[in-house]
Amino acid sequence: MINVNDEHILSKINYKEYSEKVLKISEMIENGTGAGSDYLGWLNYPASYDQNEFNEILKCAQKIRKSCEFLVVCGIGGSYLGSRAVIDSINGLNSKDKLKILFLGQTLSTDYIYDVLETIKGKKFAINVISKSGTTTETAISFRLVKDLLESQIGKEASKELIFITTDAKNGLLRKLADEQHYPVFTLPSNIGGRYSVFTAVGLLPLACANIDIKAFMDGAKKSMEDLKTPSLLANPAYKYAVIRDYLYRQGKSVELFVNCEPRLVQLSEWLKQLFGESEGKDGKGLFPASATFSTDLHSLGQFIQDGSKILFETVLRIQNPNHEIVINENADNFDELNYLKGKSLKFVNEKMADGTLEAHTQTGNVPNVIIEIESLNEFSLGYLLYFYMKTCAMSAYLLEVNPFNQPGVEVYKKNMFRLLGKK
Ligand code: PA5
Repeated sequence: MINVNDEHILSKINYKEYSEKVLKISEMIENGTGAGSDYLGWLNYPASYDQNEFNEILKCAQKIRKSCEFLVVCGIGGSYLGSRAVIDSINGLNSKDKLKILFLGQTLSTDYIYDVLETIKGKKFAINVISKSGTTTETAISFRLVKDLLESQIGKEASKELIFITTDAKNGLLRKLADEQHYPVFTLPSNIGGRYSVFTAVGLLPLACANIDIKAFMDGAKKSMEDLKTPSLLANPAYKYAVIRDYLYRQGKSVELFVNCEPRLVQLSEWLKQLFGESEGKDGKGLFPASATFSTDLHSLGQFIQDGSKILFETVLRIQNPNHEIVINENADNFDELNYLKGKSLKFVNEKMADGTLEAHTQTGNVPNVIIEIESLNEFSLGYLLYFYMKTCAMSAYLLEVNPFNQPGVEVYKKNMFRLLGKK
């Protein structure tokens, strides 16, 4: 399903030197003996998830799709990035679906929040508030505002039918609220952290509401889980990619630029940046994750990638087959001198852009390039791909000797903000 191509990393990795270490870490992951192993619930989740909850998610999504024009998802970080990435990747950027999904809770911007509130004012909408801790300020403020609006439009009791809570099994203010007020509630298992939660109700409820085939998505994740269990470095593309990242990091590269050639994958890069950045950036270590979409960013970042400081390598996600075909026609006047492309598809042109860029960046720019290849973008392949990245991330962080599942640094800004806001 996935090919990790290391032909363009501009040096040869001695995989043999890594194989014993990878074997040990693989055992550590599978047996749950490494740092942060309380948070390994995602590892076998695609095979062990609760079918009853899954069916309940489908039922609630049908209800929301039937009765609402909007679903407002309130969440930040791992509580929204995964579903947003998958929705864009599958439905595209101009979805004609009758239910619109809006994201709130990831910002404190007055104008952003105002715009969302204005969009849903007087309309039929449901809310899915997602927070494991139940105390994240950005999410909590947004939730309070949309909840107030919903209750002012349809009343407190009727609102209870349209507010869906996704939170920790036992702890936190949202769990307490759900229990006291009897809101429909879904669980983020205590042993799964936010950025590893896309296959739980955190990702699945918004995805099902967006009419995405969540069964195929989970099947893809399960296949990935099975394929990527092998401890053999060269038979396991996730471990191979983790080793390439580690190797390039130790060669002095400090930035990994996630590149795609599909605007609908921009949010997938955002999810990747959180997954790798929050999992690895600690103890003064880690690759800084950045992202670019080509051709768009060839005309902004391209100059730096080609000729700027030699701090980065690129990891390019290449999708072999687009979901549609567009062919360039012949033009009688050839006013744009494009007739040399007559009969050629945009897929062909996009591929030549990527090939030309690869050659420029590696051969002239001396920038190492890793290629992740998948055949096409659909629910199954995305489930496969996201699980692949999560497995890569666990291996990669352990190679760096950091805990892949905590994020102590994120607390610092929160403490300062609370002090400045006067929170007791
Ligand atoms: O990966 C993580 O754990 C974090 O990014 C969280 O998802 C994020 O901070 C939101 O936390 P919560 O779900 O508790 O509101």
